[in-house]
Amino acid sequence: MKNIKNTADMWQGCWISSDQATVSDEPDFDLADMFAGKKQKFVPVEKRLHPVVYFKKTFIANKYIKKASLQITAQGIYQAYMNGRKVTSAIFTPDYTNYNKFLQYQTYDITDKLIEGLNVFCVQVADGWYAGRISVQGGSTQFGNQLALLADIIIEYQNGKKEIIGTNHSFTSGEGKHCYADIEIGEKQDLRISDNWLKDSKKLVEPVIEIKADYSRLVPQTGPLVHCQQPLASKKIWQEDSSLIIDFGQVIAGRVRLTANFAYNQRVVLKHSEVLDENGKFYQNIVGRNKDQTDIFIGNGQQMTVEPDFTFHGFRYVKISGLTEQDFIDAQAIPIYSNMPETGWIKTDNGKINQLLSNIKWSQRGNMLSIPTDCPQRERVGWTGDMQVFAPASTFFMNTEAFIRRWLKNVRLDQRANGEIIDYSPAPKDAAKSVQFTGSYSSAGWGDAIIMVPWTLYQRYGHIDVLQENYQAMTKWIEFAQQSAASDKVTAQKYLWDTKFHYGDWMFPSLMLGPNPDPMKTSKLTKDVVATAFLKHSNDLMFKISEILGLDGKQYQDYAQKVQTAFTKYYVTNDKHLINDYQGCYVLAIAFDLVPPKLKANLLDRLVQKIHDNNDLLDTGFLATPYLLDVLTDDGYIALAQKLFLQESCPSWLYEVNHGATTIWESWAGIQPDGHVGEFSFNHYAMGCVLDWFVRDVVGIHSEQPGYQIIKIWPRVKICNKISASYVTDKGLVKVDLNYHDDYQELTVNIPLNTRAVICLPYHNDTQKYQLLRTYTQGTLNQDQKYLQIQVEAGSYYYRY
Ligand code: BGC
Repeated sequence: MKNIKNTADMWQGCWISSDQATVSDEPDFDLADMFAGKKQKFVPVEKRLHPVVYFKKTFIANKYIKKASLQITAQGIYQAYMNGRKVTSAIFTPDYTNYNKFLQYQTYDITDKLIEGLNVFCVQVADGWYAGRISVQGGSTQFGNQLALLADIIIEYQNGKKEIIGTNHSFTSGEGKHCYADIEIGEKQDLRISDNWLKDSKKLVEPVIEIKADYSRLVPQTGPLVHCQQPLASKKIWQEDSSLIIDFGQVIAGRVRLTANFAYNQRVVLKHSEVLDENGKFYQNIVGRNKDQTDIFIGNGQQMTVEPDFTFHGFRYVKISGLTEQDFIDAQAIPIYSNMPETGWIKTDNGKINQLLSNIKWSQRGNMLSIPTDCPQRERVGWTGDMQVFAPASTFFMNTEAFIRRWLKNVRLDQRANGEIIDYSPAPKDAAKSVQFTGSYSSAGWGDAIIMVPWTLYQRYGHIDVLQENYQAMTKWIEFAQQSAASDKVTAQKYLWDTKFHYGDWMFPSLMLGPNPDPMKTSKLTKDVVATAFLKHSNDLMFKISEILGLDGKQYQDYAQKVQTAFTKYYVTNDKHLINDYQGCYVLAIAFDLVPPKLKANLLDRLVQKIHDNNDLLDTGFLATPYLLDVLTDDGYIALAQKLFLQESCPSWLYEVNHGATTIWESWAGIQPDGHVGEFSFNHYAMGCVLDWFVRDVVGIHSEQPGYQIIKIWPRVKICNKISASYVTDKGLVKVDLNYHDDYQELTVNIPLNTRAVICLPYHNDTQKYQLLRTYTQGTLNQDQKYLQIQVEAGSYYYRY
């Protein structure tokens, strides 16, 4: 069958597949059943999965090659080889996107891999995200059931001639050592089957079929590719029953590279886990469908270094069965994440804080694998809320702009006709099924990601086009939100978003830490107040964004004002509390200005009271935690912010550190105070959002004008005695060194070229020292006389105060 190519000039090749490349449909596991603890009928993995599909073509290249390149993509994930050599070190190509609307192709320079004479081109295609058993409910074939390949090898000769070898019926297909490979479940390799086919000139045994598949969705790769990163050595190895347990000392998303003597026919099984149980025994913390996290190798009687190719797991520990201690030689953990430039470094004199910062960085790495995810072992989906919450923090350790912008394209493409932003993107077919459970595709605080995330990227990177490219989707979402809130109401209540399901201040700790955690109740108790707060905030942002883009945003400003009035009228009680009397509701009401200034102090008093009543422990969930310390810092409760940050009782950031965390947990009590280990994710970056507050208010680096065009240095919360931090902005390196002494402080700052900065120092109202400082820095007092502002150009500055 001949393809109709929308981009006819671009491809010589046709989409090819084979009879073996059809993936069987496995039904979704209904969310309601999953939450009710029901189990699916057990069918052994070997019966459910199928071999990786191989494609092959030999061809002659003439003499005098000037340049050769490969343009390639797949339905599935592919690994391509030219003459036995991988064409790229990137893995899981073509990345995870909403494949039926947006499929990337990659272009590689293969000049040094081509031979003048006979060449062997091979491609392996596995299910990946396209047809694998992914997403919340774990059905297969989420985007389609036919694995397929499209490629052009483009050879340019020195005489100016050009030759293109495209995928077509002259390719052959087959299978080999990859007995199966599922991106979630794991991979099985039969090492007895050799890899020689990658180099020899023999055809594979099956024909290929040319299939009809869309070209119009194809776009060149943008954003970073996924790579295997720096390996981690084993920290500790011991025997449990007849298995070896290896601790790599760090929770990661990745896989194990194992070197061993493999006896012929020996079955070596690797199971992965993030924690040990309370007795120090191997414990699979993620359970349920497709949570096997298991790789299998069948030995070939040789010493080998082996590693899966088409899967990854969330783990710190691996349990290896079927291998004796004598046959084991070495194991490394290979972290896998999208390549993004590192941009931020912080070192303090407090080991626990350093560990917390490292935990946040590793949770970011583990959850920025092709798309931003909630966790890398269970759902692994692009929950909009998780990204919304973590986006500001994500910009410190790495430059995430291109990565997040690519993901936002999925969010836009998935947006429903009525403007709803689907809870997770890319939205595979199971996204529609979640509706049966929550009654809705979207939630406040999740869907608002379409406004809040571009806004964050604009603030941090300064590129206005991120606002432009998302603006239409923003307006559609806000219209949906306004209409959904209004429903058929006639009074000012139409400005309250109380008409549908929302996750609310999801998983706030007091309802999660006891013996019967109840996430749905956290939603029920907070959703109306929280959704209305986000409705106001997003309208406020829409006003600002519209003005920046030169558009009239007045309607959003008016609307936000009406939400404030309605919120104050209906949600503030006579004794000036909120009708939903939870920490998170106060935090959001204050952070997003849901009440007029004169009422703010009342809400603040109540928040502070509630924190004290809770033994100075936080009780905020997903949506409010990012603003908790900001609200306290901004409104005069610096000591309390400091105290919450340094808390070590549960729930708190350092509680996790004290319990051996190497990443941020999904639940504060992943490990309970009595040592009990729960079936939670131990790698969720959401609560790592605190990094953003730390960078702004403890280290003191703020983007005062989008893209750090003007930098504000304002360290106003003392957390430890020494901090040394560097941050690479678009304009150059900002450095801050802070030293706190008993009776004075030192601040050294480096401001990059092409920027200006305002440096803020605290006001000592009594000392002569301070007057001196004012004179020699030519600083001025800010409006409410709380700190000294010093305007500086690029350069290095030192202050003692
Ligand atoms: C995920 C979250 C996500 C949430 C939606 C959880 O199962 O892991 O991080 O945002 O569901 O409420």
